Amino acid sequence: MTDKNFVPSVYSNETNEGKVTFKSPSNIALVKYWGKKESQIPANPSISFTLDACATTTSISYKKLKEKGSSFSFDLLFEGKPMESFKPKITTFFERIENYLPFLKDYNFTIETSNSFPHSSGIASSASGMSALALGLMAIEKELNPEMEQEYFIKKASFLARLGSGSACRSIEGDLIQWGKHGEIDGSSDLYGIKYPYEVHSVFKNYHDTILLVDKGQKQVSSTVGHDLMHNHPFAINRFDQAHRNLTKLKKVFAEGDLKSFVEIVESEALTLHAMMMTSLPYFVLMKPNTLEIINKIWAFRESSGTNVCFTLDAGANVHVLYPEAEKEEAFQFIKNELVAFCENGQYLCDRIGFGAKKL
Ligand code: PMV
Repeated sequence: MTDKNFVPSVYSNETNEGKVTFKSPSNIALVKYWGKKESQIPANPSISFTLDACATTTSISYKKLKEKGSSFSFDLLFEGKPMESFKPKITTFFERIENYLPFLKDYNFTIETSNSFPHSSGIASSASGMSALALGLMAIEKELNPEMEQEYFIKKASFLARLGSGSACRSIEGDLIQWGKHGEIDGSSDLYGIKYPYEVHSVFKNYHDTILLVDKGQKQVSSTVGHDLMHNHPFAINRFDQAHRNLTKLKKVFAEGDLKSFVEIVESEALTLHAMMMTSLPYFVLMKPNTLEIINKIWAFRESSGTNVCFTLDAGANVHVLYPEAEKEEAFQFIKNELVAFCENGQYLCDRIGFGAKKL
């Protein structure tokens, strides 16, 4: 498949107005996407758990204009209030996808969006937000082309979401999503995310992710700047190779339920992501002292308890604590007793692996 497959031919139907709503989850990468080529093509493949509780709900009301506009016509409401500051991002997104959704200038849209997690939690809403928006737009395209197959709908939603924010392409479905061409993963593509196509041991079902809010501030480094840091990065080639190798290793780990190796790969990926930021020019340290306190506590607890509690990180200071269903009581007790003290205002979010976006 190429991007040309997502350019529609003439639509068979018409629609004058309507409203669509999708709730789309966030996701947490196990093998990280960090570095990209033109048009949000990833420099390396990645894989993520789709989350469940952390989600964005987006409604799009659409009304056909008397004649096609010369620019995009839309209003944006965030948590019920007009949000001008979000509009440029949406305009850029519309510009990127217009070729694939040629009806965009035919309508006025009212986009109403809200997150299940607090706005200033340091949790990025780009994956859930862009995937919810992409799905809504696809639902409108389906009105115009009712014969559209579900498989194409999902693929194109992921393809469009990717053009909004790379990792958003992994938020359409669940529970384990792979994105980026990888020689040993059939059907993998740089253009969209796919459901991980091989056997996954039951130990990875119902996995938990407790997100510790260490620093709820604005991100120090936007992901756009972050990905750019991988251009001319001294370790880029090795890092991209490593991501391929880690995915190969994970294939066996997922099939066999090898939690020890899972923990090793996931933590190494998180620390590598941060190592890339520390060794780029300009360089950044995105972990906070409390991030390290938590990491050390997790290592000590794992050693003493014999459990498989581990961590991963995004491009920020917050810590995602991952643990299997069978260890949830012990892990949660540990989190409450020993980790919550390191969170800003004691705040954390309990999430778990989820099954993708839903039409409401
Ligand atoms: O989707 P972006 O451009 O915001 O990049 C996300 C990058 C990481 O969250 C750090 C890693 C990942 O694969 O999700």
